[in-house]
Amino acid sequence: MAHRLYDMFMFEATQETWEAVLALLHPAPGDQVLDAGAGTGRLAIALADLVGDDGRVAGIDVSPAMLRQADRQIARTQYRSRIELRQGDVRALPYADQSFDAATASLILELLCPDETIAALKELGRVVRPGGRIVVAALAEELPYGRTLSFYLVLRAIFRLAALGRPLSLRRLAKDAGLVGKISMRRSLLRLPVDILLCEVPGIAAK
Ligand SMILES: C[S@@+](CC[C@H](N)C(=O)[O-])C[C@H]1O[C@@H](n2cnc3c(N)ncnc32)[C@H](O)[C@@H]1O
Repeated sequence: MAHRLYDMFMFEATQETWEAVLALLHPAPGDQVLDAGAGTGRLAIALADLVGDDGRVAGIDVSPAMLRQADRQIARTQYRSRIELRQGDVRALPYADQSFDAATASLILELLCPDETIAALKELGRVVRPGGRIVVAALAEELPYGRTLSFYLVLRAIFRLAALGRPLSLRRLAKDAGLVGKISMRRSLLRLPVDILLCEVPGIAAK
């Protein structure tokens, strides 16, 4: 049920964030791309369109219900053969080192505990080839907190809604995980600030 509601209500709200993710990730035809925390599969579908017939998109998520909804959405498109869905955890990705040209984790890192966020970023850096791109999007740690973010944090604390996620400083976390922060964009999601950051995996580019 929650996955269907998420799909219905968040589809419009997350458009701006997804557009920024796609603009920064800029997948090329033939790319192998990972979408970590793929949710209901909407971003994976947009990625599949961009990587073309020779590219592949791997979508992982911890939630079987989200994966089922993603599977239903993907089945309605022409991209079924380009997308592989798998149950998995961003903190311990089920892929070999340097399996991908690019990876994204959209609106998932803020759901993890602080040390797990760095572990997840390191995992993304491990599975993407040197010189490859990682784009992360998360609720932004905006200082000083604006009125909407303050209200959100009070609500989150009162109702103990950890599932809503906590604001992050993506640039600092990416640096701590050994990634090179390049370009960031600020967007708004339900009036909350969201940062989208392009990182590069250090090392010599193989492609
Ligand atoms: C807010 S949704 C975002 C979905 C999608 N990336 C988007 O941009 O709309 C967060 C997703 O992350 C998944 N998730 C949470 N913790 C995870 C973890 N440790 N590993 C993989 N997926 C996780 C949830 O099941 C959920 O589908």
